[in-house]
Amino acid sequence: MKLFKRVMAMTMASIMVFSMAACGGSDSASTSGTNEAAPAEKEEEAAPAETEQEAAPEQAEEEAAPAENEAAPEAGGEAAAGGSGNIGVCIYKFDDAFMTTYRNALQEILEGKGYTVTFMDGKNDQAEQNNQINNFITQGVDALIINPVMTSAADQIIATVKDAGIPTVLINREPTAEQMSAYDKLVYVGCDARQSGTMQGELILDTPNKGDINGDGKVSYIMIQGDPENVDAQYRTEFSVKALTDAGMEVEELDLQRGDWDRNKGQEIAQNDLAKFGDDIEVVFCNNDDMAIGALQAIQAAGRTVNEDIYLVGVDALDAALNEVASGNMTGTVLNDANGQAAGAVDAMEALLGGKTYAAGEQSIYVDYVKVTPDNVADFQ
Ligand code: BGC
Repeated sequence: MKLFKRVMAMTMASIMVFSMAACGGSDSASTSGTNEAAPAEKEEEAAPAETEQEAAPEQAEEEAAPAENEAAPEAGGEAAAGGSGNIGVCIYKFDDAFMTTYRNALQEILEGKGYTVTFMDGKNDQAEQNNQINNFITQGVDALIINPVMTSAADQIIATVKDAGIPTVLINREPTAEQMSAYDKLVYVGCDARQSGTMQGELILDTPNKGDINGDGKVSYIMIQGDPENVDAQYRTEFSVKALTDAGMEVEELDLQRGDWDRNKGQEIAQNDLAKFGDDIEVVFCNNDDMAIGALQAIQAAGRTVNEDIYLVGVDALDAALNEVASGNMTGTVLNDANGQAAGAVDAMEALLGGKTYAAGEQSIYVDYVKVTPDNVADFQ
């Protein structure tokens, strides 16, 4: 079991609870009984709003109506933080390896606390997600946790939840501080993507030849990017290379292509680049692990050997990637702490339900990334 991740998540949770108490926020991090809703089923079906509403226990609806929260935040907060609230969770798409881990963590924590939770699959379609948010608002959910499909839709999402007065936690795709400042019952919980990019670069700098396998004085790499609309993709791309140049290395970008966080696309891009650039490729940077696993398939099919004649790094610490790091088929990865972020998101949600508001410029809560190498990979498995 992922003991390390669990410990991280629990530590995170206690830190957040402590700071909430210190800020006079919700005092109710205690757990309560679970409820009888069957979220696994709902999750798979992504059933229409009406069905979802029916599944919600009446008691929860009565106890924690949004109007009550607004009128008497303390009272509303106590009821909801006791685990009796209805929570709507919008995920940009269920079919994303990392967000599946994240979603499972959220489900476990929220249900463990006794909340009634409904997950919706945005299917990578912002219009669809907008409908889902509107449906949740119509249903009178107590709080929303939203992983936006498009960061560029943040203004609209924020205006919608503000209008409805719903406390909202945004996750995974970070809007700008200015966008968030429009609504003080809104907070972002995630990671600083610059850190993960820097760590990827450091993983390469930590190799015996600092990535310059052929000794020609420069690190020649290909970059397999996530969805470039997403700040995680932008920063990881920029800061992984910046770590090398900051350390005085010369770099050569052989190719940069968007793989949209997708394993198959990672495989295709790596396959084409290996055919085109051959041994010139010394480093394969992937913005996430799923694409790195795809790239690894192409690397192995091309007869190349990671850590001998090519380096490969990802981000997320998916189980599959941890196995590859342990067996030397990936140079390293970076833990994108889904459990820690889920715990942080729930803590922030409870603080909001307890009446806490967030000042402009203080609406981003970050969980640290962690470098994963063969030396410490066992701690994460
Ligand atoms: C993760 C990716 C994931 C993306 C979704 C990133 O933080 O590293 O694996 O696909 O979030 O937005």
